[in-house]
Amino acid sequence: MDNTPIDKDFYRYDANHRFAAMYPLLARQIVDDCGIRTGVCLDVGTGGAPVLIELAKLTDCALIGLDAQAEVLDIARENVVRHGLPPQRFRFLKADVTEVPLAAGSVDLLISRGSIPFWPDHVAAFEELYRVLAPGGTGFIGCGFSRYQPLEEVRAMRPKWTGDGDADARNDWKKDGYLDKVLARAGVPEATVQADAYGVWVTLRKPVSSQTVAE
Ligand SMILES: C[S@@+](CC[C@H](N)C(=O)[O-])C[C@H]1O[C@@H](n2cnc3c(N)ncnc32)[C@H](O)[C@@H]1O
Repeated sequence: MDNTPIDKDFYRYDANHRFAAMYPLLARQIVDDCGIRTGVCLDVGTGGAPVLIELAKLTDCALIGLDAQAEVLDIARENVVRHGLPPQRFRFLKADVTEVPLAAGSVDLLISRGSIPFWPDHVAAFEELYRVLAPGGTGFIGCGFSRYQPLEEVRAMRPKWTGDGDADARNDWKKDGYLDKVLARAGVPEATVQADAYGVWVTLRKPVSSQTVAE
């Protein structure tokens, strides 16, 4: 992570946030897609925890937000209170995606939105995320918007830099075949990559029969 000051306005999650209409729809879509409403939910690169906050409203999961920057986690804690949610349902961890301080097989629902462009080592990241995923668990990792939202709204919301193409290293992970290679090298057996007008999302599923390898 660099030392650029954080954009506090981006991390404050209230009705004025530029993605305020999207986060509840994305959370609804995630729950509809995987049917997970209990257990442990981990959000990697949680930022101000907007996705986690919306998942708290729809599920009974224990919620863990992980981020490499301590400062954004302070804002996430404020956002939890701002949304009238019980702080004891949330746990926040300052850590890198490549070193998640959680036991193998301990996460039932794994999400990560908008963080993957910043990860320095995608293979190490996916190895680690797959390690913490529980047998029978599902992960949604990507960048973009909810398919429950009209495309005109998505186009209006999309930040300008995502269109910069090859010139921006933050777009490398979206290049053709890149994620397939990363997932194979990370030893992830069941994953789908969906790239469309809503963004790019990887869905990971860990078979129920998977053995959890002790750390
Ligand atoms: C664009 S924000 C997305 C925040 C939130 N998930 C959302 O959808 O609004 C990206 C977040 O990823 C975090 N991040 C970047 N690199 C990371 C890494 N290597 N490990 C953990 N978090 C990271 C940043 O600190 C930042 O909070």
